[in-house]
Amino acid sequence: MILETVASGGCRSYLLGCQETCAAALIDPELSQIDRYLALTARDGLRIRYLVDTHTHADHFSATQQLARQLGVPVVMHSASPAPFVDLRLHGGELLVIGQLRLQALHTPGHTRDSMCLRVEDVVFTGDTLLIGATGRTDLPGGDAEALYDSLFDHVLKLDPALRVFPAHEYKGRTHTTIGQEMTTNPRLQVRERGAFVDMMNNLNITMPTHVTEALRTNMSGGKTVAQMLSEAAAAVPFMSLAELQACIESGSNDAIVLDVRERDAFEEGHIPGARLLPRGQLELRVNQDLTDPTRRIIVYCEFGRVSTLATHTLRQMGFTAAVALDGGMKVWRESGCPVQTGKDP
Ligand SMILES: [Fe+2]
Repeated sequence: MILETVASGGCRSYLLGCQETCAAALIDPELSQIDRYLALTARDGLRIRYLVDTHTHADHFSATQQLARQLGVPVVMHSASPAPFVDLRLHGGELLVIGQLRLQALHTPGHTRDSMCLRVEDVVFTGDTLLIGATGRTDLPGGDAEALYDSLFDHVLKLDPALRVFPAHEYKGRTHTTIGQEMTTNPRLQVRERGAFVDMMNNLNITMPTHVTEALRTNMSGGKTVAQMLSEAAAAVPFMSLAELQACIESGSNDAIVLDVRERDAFEEGHIPGARLLPRGQLELRVNQDLTDPTRRIIVYCEFGRVSTLATHTLRQMGFTAAVALDGGMKVWRESGCPVQTGKDP
């Protein structure tokens, strides 16, 4: 059995491979680590056959859907998962066959309704049900302290104490633990009376994870994150540096349209000399009047360089094949002492 751990921030993902057959499963992959998973898979001579999420994550962006498209392999979750893009929904007790390995799902609701632990040989991946020295929280959507109590005390802690535990989160750099070790040392598991455990879980007062709304939206629907929208747009457009544009304007050789896609008040407060105003929100509706030559070079900018990237992508999709995004934005332009013009659109 090959087992690789990928740690990013406090999140853990696992690549589990069968040495004999080269088949593998990737557990709890994160969007920002896709290249790392594929590099590890190649290095170890493995082929990913399943993309598994132990539960609907609220604190990071799952990579299962994107990798499924890229690799043509199924996304696996518990049958209680709300995500519409899941290909294989496991019920408790069911197995995934990964070459010679058998990965068995154990339904362990509590942290979320669709939480599952996955057992293979002497290893159990506990997702956010059981962490090292802690448990998953139960105060996020779908969380239920009573259900977590049942999952832990009636199921997980009844597994072989020698099983090695690999959780979905670890903040102190420890690699793993065992069921036996957690039973004796995990402070939350010392609270063995049901009511006291539920009270403790309901009064943890932990801060909300960052991006919780976006993580739940994208992980539950399969929709894109803001970073994905931006990186897809950025990959499809060329950029121009501020220095290049400044040099063109200074030499009087600029024959391109410099297009400001911010709102009118921001434009009137200060814009790049000679720029035209066409707010992003009106772009599609006004292009036919405002930009009559689709072959004309258009240099698009906004305040920070993000909205202009999206606008340039839209323009290129509409046939403005010479649209370019400014690398940076009005903020950097202003701060680097470049000339600024105030007042209305000429
Ligand atoms: Fe979680």
